[in-house]
Amino acid sequence: MSKILLTGGAGYIGSHIAVVLADHGFEAVIADNYSNSSRWIPERIARLSGKKITAYDVDCRDLSSLQEIVKKEGQISGVIHLAAVKAVGESVSNPLKYYDNNIGCMTSALQLMETTGIRHLVFSSSCTVYGSCQTEEVFEQTPWARAYSPYGYSKQVCERMMEDLALVKNNWKQVSLRYFNPIGAHPSGILGELPIGPPNNIVPYITQTAAGIRERLTIFGDDYDTPDGTCVRDYIHVMDVAEAHVKALKYILQEHAPAIDQFNIGTGEGVSVKKLVHFFETSTGVKVPQIAGPRRPGDADAIYANVSKAKRILGWKSHYSVQEALSHAWQWEQNLKT
Ligand code: UFG
Repeated sequence: MSKILLTGGAGYIGSHIAVVLADHGFEAVIADNYSNSSRWIPERIARLSGKKITAYDVDCRDLSSLQEIVKKEGQISGVIHLAAVKAVGESVSNPLKYYDNNIGCMTSALQLMETTGIRHLVFSSSCTVYGSCQTEEVFEQTPWARAYSPYGYSKQVCERMMEDLALVKNNWKQVSLRYFNPIGAHPSGILGELPIGPPNNIVPYITQTAAGIRERLTIFGDDYDTPDGTCVRDYIHVMDVAEAHVKALKYILQEHAPAIDQFNIGTGEGVSVKKLVHFFETSTGVKVPQIAGPRRPGDADAIYANVSKAKRILGWKSHYSVQEALSHAWQWEQNLKT
């Protein structure tokens, strides 16, 4: 069985990737410092996948710890690199945390590959790399504009690092997946996003409001130039995001794959904030108290993915609807209480 080093593998997206990797016959070796996760997550992954999960408590900036893992585990066929911090607002107030963690972890991941002979990398990127671009539908070749935040800039830098490495490592295969808005939870309700403090992202805020943990949801701006005045995003089920990683991994494990490639990972459909809340209420039967508030600085009015490249080349497309993703998130929220 092929072993894959999964950095950030105990996190929200990483833990779902670990389950899907196991379903496809790969063995995930997790490296995570649990800064935004819990130590019981690997046990959940093992329970869901029915496979043994190896997890190391390491800071991925520390190259020697990563090298130790490879020494201990033996043959590792590739790295799926997610370890990073991801709160956009926090990155504005504490930029150095983002440059240190996100660029530091990426540097170590690449140095690990250079020093151990691992040649395959799938990188967790984001639609944030497109920055403040002028179009709503973005293609992989849409030119990047200035990033909205240090978080966004850290993702741009990481992708640039991959490009620079591709010029000198002629047997490496690297791919970056630009996720749009991952939401939802494992359909079993056993795995999902762990809230630490008040959520920054809309879906955990909706589920916590529905559960009575938060008083009400504030809709950040209802005067945008969109059909109902609220921002439009491309919400994608986390299991679909996880599947995309396995497809991307299989793609680069083929010798004819290009040295470097990028894919948008979304549904291809824009959904407004108001519509999202409506979908939640109709698919769960639970009301979400809400008020309209001012715009959140830095929010784009509308952005969604063109996903034809992922469909054509990876044979990947989303399977779950936004309503299913919201039901799964709600199921997870309810399980968290018990
Ligand atoms: N929103 C609300 N109320 C809330 C939270 C969010 O109205 O309490 C709105 C936001 O204004 C936005 C939409 O819901 O219009 C989605 O907001 P999220 O914070 O859930 O997601 P973002 O689109 O801001 O951020 C996502 C990812 C980031 C990524 C960014 C790139 O979470 O990792 O897209 O645009 F960098």
